[in-house]
Amino acid sequence: MTVKVVSAAAAGSDAVPVLFYRGEKEPQAPAGLLEIGRALRSLTGLEPGKAGWHLIPTADKKTPRVILAELPAEGCLARALRNGCANLQRELDGRGIKAIRLYFPEALDDRLTQAAAEGILLGDYCFDKYRTARPKYAGPEEVFLDGTEIGLKRAGAFAGGQIRSRSLANEPGNVIGPAEMAHCAQEVARAGGLECTVYDEGQIHEMGMEALFAVGRGSAKRPRFVHMVYRPQGIENPKRVVFVGKSVTFDSGGLSIKTRDGMITMKGDKTGACNVLGIMEAVAALRPSLEVHGIFGAVENMPDGDAYRVDDIIRAKNGKTIEVKNTDAEGRLTLADALAYACELKPDALIDMATLTGAIGTALGGYTAGALGDDAALAQAIIDAGKAVGERFHYFPLDDDKLKEKISTPFADVKNSAGPGGGAITAGMFLREFVVPGTSWIHLDIASVDYYESAFDCYSAGASSFGVRTCLQYLMNLEK
Ligand code: BES
Ligand code: MN
Ligand code: ZN
Repeated sequence: MTVKVVSAAAAGSDAVPVLFYRGEKEPQAPAGLLEIGRALRSLTGLEPGKAGWHLIPTADKKTPRVILAELPAEGCLARALRNGCANLQRELDGRGIKAIRLYFPEALDDRLTQAAAEGILLGDYCFDKYRTARPKYAGPEEVFLDGTEIGLKRAGAFAGGQIRSRSLANEPGNVIGPAEMAHCAQEVARAGGLECTVYDEGQIHEMGMEALFAVGRGSAKRPRFVHMVYRPQGIENPKRVVFVGKSVTFDSGGLSIKTRDGMITMKGDKTGACNVLGIMEAVAALRPSLEVHGIFGAVENMPDGDAYRVDDIIRAKNGKTIEVKNTDAEGRLTLADALAYACELKPDALIDMATLTGAIGTALGGYTAGALGDDAALAQAIIDAGKAVGERFHYFPLDDDKLKEKISTPFADVKNSAGPGGGAITAGMFLREFVVPGTSWIHLDIASVDYYESAFDCYSAGASSFGVRTCLQYLMNLEK
C-alpha cells in the first residue's frame, strides 16, 4: 500500500491532525485544535525550534489523538518540510493510523507543497518486498494537506521518479541483470508514451561499442544498450537534453576482483541508469517543452574464462583506444561508448550519472555528490537545481593538465586507471576523452551518496537515488 497525498478539502474527521510548529510560529489550524496544541506543547518535552514530534495518545493509547511536530526554526523551510514530513511518515509505521491531516505554520505555495508532499511520499518508501516473517511497512495511507494542485502533481512526479529508481536499484543482481534493466525501460516507455530502442549484444558489437562489450564479456547475463526518448508535442526545435546512466547490474570487479567486503552493495552499481529511468518516467508525466533522451549500456562485471583482461587494448565507439589497467574501473568503459553514442545526438546539454569512484566519497563524505567537467555554467545550473530540491553537489573542474598525464599510456590513447590520488577527477578526465569537444557536458559521480545503511530524512535504507530530483528540477528551470 503506498500513501496518497491529497488536498485537505477531502479530509474526513477520522484523519489524525498533525500540528507543525516552527519556533514562534503556530500551525494554521482551527481555534479548538490550536488551543489543545497550546496546552500540550509545553508538556511534550519537545524543544521549540529543534526538529522532532510527539504523539498525544487517546485514552485507549492506540491511535494518537493529535500529533505535535516541531520544524527546525533555522534554515531552508522547503528542506525542513521535506525532511520533517518524511521522518513523520516513517515514524507512523505500524501504529494503525489510516489518515493524517497536516497543519503548517504558513500557507504552502507550489514549491512548499511539493516539498512537503515529496517528504511524505519518500518517507513512505521502504524496500521490504522480500520480507516475509517481519511485518511490512504500514504507515498512514492517506495524507491531507492544504496545498496547490501544481505542487502535488510535481511531488508525485519527482518523488515517483526517485522511488522508481530506488525500487529497481535495490533489487539484487540475481533478479535484475542487463536484460531486466532493458525490460524495465520498455515498461516505463510503454506506460508513459516514450520511444524506447533496445540493442542486444550483437548490435552493441556492430555499433562499435567494444568498451561496453568488453566489460560484459565475463557474465552469462548478456549486455543490452537502451535509448529512450521523450519528444514534446507541437514545439519546433526544442532544446535537447540527454541523460546517460551507468548500469553495472553487479560489480564484482572482474579479474581485478574486489575484496569480499568491497563487493557488498555493488548491486547498486546500476543506480545511475535507474535514476535515468526514474527521470524519464517523471518526464513522461510532467511533459516539459524539451526533448529528453535517456541512455544506458547495461552489463554485469564478472570474472570468467572469457572475461576481459588487464592489459587488453580495446577500441571505443569514437575510435579511441583504451588500455585496460584495472577491470574494476569498468564504469568508465561502459560510459565511454554511451557518451560517444549520446554525442551523435548533438545534445544542448549532456548529463551523465554514475556510481563511478570510491574516491568521490573520500573527497566529499557521504552527503554530497560530485559534478565534474569543463562547463562551469552547467555545473552551477546543477548545483542550483540541487539546492532547490535539497541535494548537494560540489564542482570539480577538469583543468589540471599535470594530473591528466596519469591516464596516459605509451600503448594506447588512454588507460582506464590512473592509480591513487584524485581518482574522481582522473575518472572524469577519462570520460571527457569520449565527449565531442564543445559539448555542454557534466559528469555526476553519485558513488558518495547512492547507498545508506539506515533510513533518515527522505532517505530509506538502501538505494537513495540521489540526483533524480536535481535533474528534474534542472529540466524545470531550463523550461522557464
Ligand atoms: N562501482 C565502483 C565505484 C564504487 C565504489 C561505487 C564504492 C560505490 C561505492 C567502480 O566501478 C570502481 O570499482 N571504481 C574503482 C576505480 C579504480 C579501480 C580506478 C574504485 O573506486 O576503487
Ligand atoms: Mn568497479
Ligand atoms: Zn562499478
